Amino acid sequence: MPAEARLTEKRSYDAIVVGGGVIGLACAWRAARRGAGVLVLDRAHPPAGATRVAPGMLAPVGELDFGEPELLEMTLAAAELYPGFVAELEAATGEPAGYARMGALHVALDRDEAAELRRVHDLQRSLGLGAEWLPPRRCRELEPGLTPSFNGGVHAADEAVVDPRALTGALLAALAAEGVEVRTGVEVTAALLDGERIAGVRTDHGEELRASAVVLAAGAWSGQAEWLPEHARPPVRPVKGQVLELRAPDGAAPCERIVGSERVYLVPRGDGRLIVGATVEEQGFDTAVTAGGVHELLREAYRLLPEVAEMELVEAAAGLRPATPDNLPLVGPGGLDGLVWATGHYRNGILLAPLTGEAVAELLDRGKLSGSMAAASPGRLAGSAARAAR
Ligand code: GLY
Repeated sequence: MPAEARLTEKRSYDAIVVGGGVIGLACAWRAARRGAGVLVLDRAHPPAGATRVAPGMLAPVGELDFGEPELLEMTLAAAELYPGFVAELEAATGEPAGYARMGALHVALDRDEAAELRRVHDLQRSLGLGAEWLPPRRCRELEPGLTPSFNGGVHAADEAVVDPRALTGALLAALAAEGVEVRTGVEVTAALLDGERIAGVRTDHGEELRASAVVLAAGAWSGQAEWLPEHARPPVRPVKGQVLELRAPDGAAPCERIVGSERVYLVPRGDGRLIVGATVEEQGFDTAVTAGGVHELLREAYRLLPEVAEMELVEAAAGLRPATPDNLPLVGPGGLDGLVWATGHYRNGILLAPLTGEAVAELLDRGKLSGSMAAASPGRLAGSAARAAR
């Protein structure tokens, strides 16, 4: 197509969301629900980010770590929001998102693991979280398929899961119902800048797309957004996670809830699939599935639930978590007027998607970041990003 012809196509939106993972789609849907004219762009066709391989644990208690009170506040608020978000989504589309409050059982396989799990459990109890220490017999009553020998476990009854692929399908249907365009296979090549304000984007299809706001929701690739000036790129790095999908021959997964150990977690789906995750690897943008990664996941899954040996190995995949220097997401004004970052969700992207979507929609609508997302504000960062975000 000649350059003159390509550049004649100009359109205008309230917001352009760059990134079609669950964070971008949730932001777009919540903004559209408030009446905004939104466009979503994703360079992959179909979108191929972390959402596609995420297990979908909604597990603020199990994912709790020492010294992260702001993240806990956020993940607890997100878990509370989830049932209403899914109910609204399913009512709007008739499509199930695969949400189930099934609980989680974290098992200690030896004495060292038991000492560490007790330490975490003490922290959980000191914070008033729903988590109960159970001896092996009680654990086995909950999950009869557990290995015969282990040292106890922690039951977190309120943990839930969602199926990220089903959730994506429901969000896409909801966006279609709102008249929101989602364009895949379109790469953003430049920001349209008006001084220190972003006024839209240019794409590799030669279009100039104008918008009052641009939302950067490109997951692990957000920090590589070369179409933005350097000071407007968030400090996000990729952290690789390899994940397996197994299937039970009789259609019944070997556990009823999330089952985890120090090294692995198993997430059952209602249709007999079992997701086994995940490695945590600092390997840049490498997404190769390795023999070592698959071996480690299968070995550790088998140590927990020996029945996995009988299951069919359906898929092995790797995704890239978007990590930040302090493990908190980066959600809020992002270094140019009109630019909003919605990224850096690291291990909690699926859980934090509804909360992030609501916070971004509120920011676009009223210019302020809501309470539970305030700690995600980019303004907390030192150096150029913090200066840029002010
Ligand atoms: N939230 C699970 C993971 O990142 O592996």
